[in-house]
Amino acid sequence: MRHLMSPLDFTTSELDALFDLACDIEKNPKKYAHVCDGKKLATCFYEPSTRTRLSFEAAMMNLGGNVLGFSEASSSSAAKGESVSDTIRVISCYADICAMRHPKEGAPMVAASKSGIPVINAGDGGHQHPTQTLTDLLTIRNLHGKLNNFTIGLCGDLKFGRTVHSLIRALLRYEGIHFVFISPDELKIPDYIIDELKEKNATYEEVIMLDDVIDKLDILYMTRVQRERFFNEEDYVRLKNFYILTKEKMDKAKETCIVMHPLPRVNEISVEVDDDPRASYFKQAQFGVYVRMALIMTLLELEVKDA
Ligand code: CP
Repeated sequence: MRHLMSPLDFTTSELDALFDLACDIEKNPKKYAHVCDGKKLATCFYEPSTRTRLSFEAAMMNLGGNVLGFSEASSSSAAKGESVSDTIRVISCYADICAMRHPKEGAPMVAASKSGIPVINAGDGGHQHPTQTLTDLLTIRNLHGKLNNFTIGLCGDLKFGRTVHSLIRALLRYEGIHFVFISPDELKIPDYIIDELKEKNATYEEVIMLDDVIDKLDILYMTRVQRERFFNEEDYVRLKNFYILTKEKMDKAKETCIVMHPLPRVNEISVEVDDDPRASYFKQAQFGVYVRMALIMTLLELEVKDA
């Protein structure tokens, strides 16, 4: 039985196969409409979510399966003190696969160790968000045409942003990627990620101003300042509007630069940018459904039966 805790749990060739499957699902949705007939996905979300939870549920429904679960800890027996280990043992009796989001780093890993069904980490604290990374890689592959040889700018909350941490680790396995980290000093990328970049001899730079680097980026990955991870409100208020991507800023970006964002957005991308053909964040959310369909099929070892 296989779980997904980190994007590195799949080799790059397994990722290629997963993305090929996601692309085929996008082109031929009817072919996959009954692959999960009779199967159930449990979504156990101890933290708020729109995209991850609902795209997982849409993915399972598109495959012909059913969904059950909870969307907040307070409506589950966690509110009565039940451990994640006990919860997953019980969920294993009710469902075939589980997607779990938890505010504590490592909680989905603990669940996986006690589970009778595949567990997917749907985001654990400030640590990892592997299915967002799969979504991001598929978006880059589809819109940029390749997963190597580009300059990517990651902008905003690089300290707490788990999507950024997962994505960097995943991209470190591909050739010729130059990383530009754009953040205020208080939200800099953690040292352990910098150590990994150095170990892999990756090239990177750290800057504060987006204006100084936007013209050289092939991909601009914007992120939200994560209010829920700040220890005090004052710091959040001071930093929340540090970056706002506007039309004027986009005028300096390459014609081919794609703008990504895991969403939800707050103020960091002005809504006027949404009409720019380079704005790719809503397409990214759509790709998330196809890649999660491919992931469910892969973890459940399901294939389309030939007609
Ligand atoms: N990108 C993402 O994880 O969004 P949600 O928090 O809405 O799931």
